[in-house]
Amino acid sequence: MRRILVTGGAGFIGANFVRMVLSEHPDTLVVNLDKLTYAGNLENLAGFTDHPNHVFVKGDILDAKLVEQLVTDHNIDAIINFAAESHVDRSLVDPGVFIETNVNGTLTLLKVALEKKLERYIQISTDEVYGSLGPTGKFTEQTPVSPNSPYSASKAAADHLVRAFGHSWGLRYNITRCSNNYGEYQFPEKMIPLMINNALNDKPLPVYGDGLYVRDWLYIYDHCTAIWKVLTEARPGEIYNIGGNNEKTNLEVVGLILDRLGKPKELIRHVTDRPGHDRRYAIDSSKIMNELKWRPSVTFEVGINRTIDWYLANETWLRHVVSGEYQQYYASMYHNR
Ligand code: NAD
Ligand code: DAU
Repeated sequence: MRRILVTGGAGFIGANFVRMVLSEHPDTLVVNLDKLTYAGNLENLAGFTDHPNHVFVKGDILDAKLVEQLVTDHNIDAIINFAAESHVDRSLVDPGVFIETNVNGTLTLLKVALEKKLERYIQISTDEVYGSLGPTGKFTEQTPVSPNSPYSASKAAADHLVRAFGHSWGLRYNITRCSNNYGEYQFPEKMIPLMINNALNDKPLPVYGDGLYVRDWLYIYDHCTAIWKVLTEARPGEIYNIGGNNEKTNLEVVGLILDRLGKPKELIRHVTDRPGHDRRYAIDSSKIMNELKWRPSVTFEVGINRTIDWYLANETWLRHVVSGEYQQYYASMYHNR
């Protein structure tokens, strides 16, 4: 039996990954360590919290004793680190917690992985470490790291630490750098679910600047299958880019959401831009496609329809996450913008 410690497994990508593993790879024990910050939500694991191969532990990746104990008690062979502060806009308001969790938290996990001689340590990173692209070209694994926001700087620092542990002490690691994920259970601070939620409530859709910023959208399930391939088939010490090959401007995405929900374009509101906003991301996924034979399973059109259908069918989930603290966040981020 494979025995993995997943951190951040109550967040968007982590929970989808845990769900996929428990559904499709029954010979796997998943120990799920999550602090349950504003972004962590046990409702993301609906139907799986009591699965016999799933152990959920509420705790912090900075708690070295706890991490060590979980690795020992469950005889863990690999750590997959999803836990992070993940929202660029929040990092521009309060960068400190990004350094704590994303850098120091990663360091804590790396020390345990090395000390316990784990088979593998997987760092879930981001294409944002590469910075921003002009109108042409794509990020490859050779693109120099050049992060532009406190969030991406903290992720890049973590990536460097992972690589240094491999180089200096032989830690068996992989780093994955993916593009923008979308899909079920994404917290509505990120663009797609925020726009869906606002459109459903006939509220203005706040498009930053001219709305011509480009992201390469990757459907969540396809990201999860790529991570599984890296965990189970990749050589240690390799970095893999994972993209959806789906470049869209923000205005195109917002337009599609409005059309699909039958809402008027007049809901679009251009608002003050994000400081230092990266203009374009695009991923060259040929390494993972050639070496590990990974392929995305859906086009953007299929994935976005599935996503919108999910939000329509899960109104209770959405209502819970946008109550309370979310209202204060929204007011501080968008009023007077
Ligand atoms: P998310 O914000 O939805 O979830 C993060 C999870 O980490 C939450 O469950 C939270 O409770 C947990 N967490 C935060 N601090 C913690 C701590 N100190 N100890 C334990 N748990 C903690 O994020 P996400 O979108 O699921 O992203 C997951 C990972 O993927 C992150 O590392 C992020 O940088 C990376 N990533 C995300 C995207 C994307 O499009 N969402 C794209 C590229 C990379
Ligand atoms: O590229 C991978 C990254 O994608 C991940 O590492 C991050 O964790 C994830 O949050 C995401 O970062 P982005 O900043 O690209 O995602 P976000 O959903 O915040 O924004 C997507 C685009 O939409 C971006 O150009 C900013 C714009 N935007 C966003 C919001 C929240 C708006 O125009 N209006 C908004 O209200």
